Amino acid sequence: MTIATHPFDALMEITARPPAVFIRGEGSQLWDDSGKRYLDFVQGWAVNCLGHSPPVIVEALAEQAKLLLTPSPAFYNAPSLKLAKALVDRSCFDRVFFTNSGAEANEGAIKLARKYGGLHRGGAYEIITFEGAFHGRTLATMSASGKKAFEPLFEPKVPGFPKARLNDIASVKALINDKTIGVMLEPIQGEAGVWPATDEFLRELRALTKQHGLLLILDEIQTGMGRTGKLFHYQHAGIEPDIMTLGKGIGGGVPLAALLASEAVSCFQHGDQGGTFNGNPLMCAVGLAVLEHVGRPDFLKSVTDIGLFLASELQRISARHGLGEVRGNGLLLALDLKRPIGASIVAQALEDGVLLNTPQPDALRFMPALNVTREEITQMIAKLDAILTRMGAARYVA
Ligand SMILES: Cc1ncc(COP(=O)(O)O)c(C=O)c1O
Repeated sequence: MTIATHPFDALMEITARPPAVFIRGEGSQLWDDSGKRYLDFVQGWAVNCLGHSPPVIVEALAEQAKLLLTPSPAFYNAPSLKLAKALVDRSCFDRVFFTNSGAEANEGAIKLARKYGGLHRGGAYEIITFEGAFHGRTLATMSASGKKAFEPLFEPKVPGFPKARLNDIASVKALINDKTIGVMLEPIQGEAGVWPATDEFLRELRALTKQHGLLLILDEIQTGMGRTGKLFHYQHAGIEPDIMTLGKGIGGGVPLAALLASEAVSCFQHGDQGGTFNGNPLMCAVGLAVLEHVGRPDFLKSVTDIGLFLASELQRISARHGLGEVRGNGLLLALDLKRPIGASIVAQALEDGVLLNTPQPDALRFMPALNVTREEITQMIAKLDAILTRMGAARYVA
């Protein structure tokens, strides 16, 4: 690493970043500017579903860049029409609005639900969300989030997001009133530490929202696009939500996200929604290439299989080191550490050339590329095992 060559202080401070400067990536590997190689089990926070700089994305970008970058969403362009049609064909939704980030997609979902409430439910606007939820960093999506650390920030919050408890249907029922327009949740709460909503809870929510004429909004920004072995996580529960948001994996590493809704709910009127870069052909061409690849049945099956392998390897080292459960689905997994040693493990892993993530002090989250190999998992597990052994030894010495 050549700190002197990089003007670190020109960027705003938004988080504690390690000093490594990454310059190249390929599949599950990253290199910093000193030539050090890292095995990446973070992948831009579950973004690079096909790994770093996969040829399929490089080619899609190069081909589209030669043709057309952005004509404005005030005009049609071919890649956005094709990608919207492909998403509609593969899901239970009828309409798509493309955005540039997950938070913007969720902001759009909130606006759409409020619009629907204004048109059809006497101005109802409250959306029940969940303790521990993470929906983004705009004012409305921070307000919708149930992350404790957000509570004191940027007051006053956007009103209208009462919080229920995940997998507790009574806590949802208790919040329904005549101002309620919908319920919004992540099928697996990622930032909170990978806490899955059960399929049963998702089905109960679908029945409850139908019974009360409310919208069911799924934030699949982390779980969608094959991450849990189905193209969309809601397919595990056999339900059909009214609104879904996608992000992260949909662009495989480029800024693309989407808001999808059923025909009955797609009620934006001219002027309600838009944005200079929304649905630009460059990003949508990448989205098409990703969907064609990730949406193949054999690819989705491979995600399930490799996810089971990762889970069993994590269970093995958990048992060996007296740690807790492995939770999650597909290639969105967490290892419960039972004590607040996550940050220390992540720092040691970085030293040892492995990128790991600790969404909570007592948990590690694994969100590798969906095409990660067994060999790469074995290498990561060996490094993690060695770190835990060192830490265990340190405990006995202390
Ligand atoms: C479930 C979920 N929703 C929304 C977001 C926000 O997406 P973005 O960071 O692209 O705005 C994230 C990002 O981590 C997420 O995991």
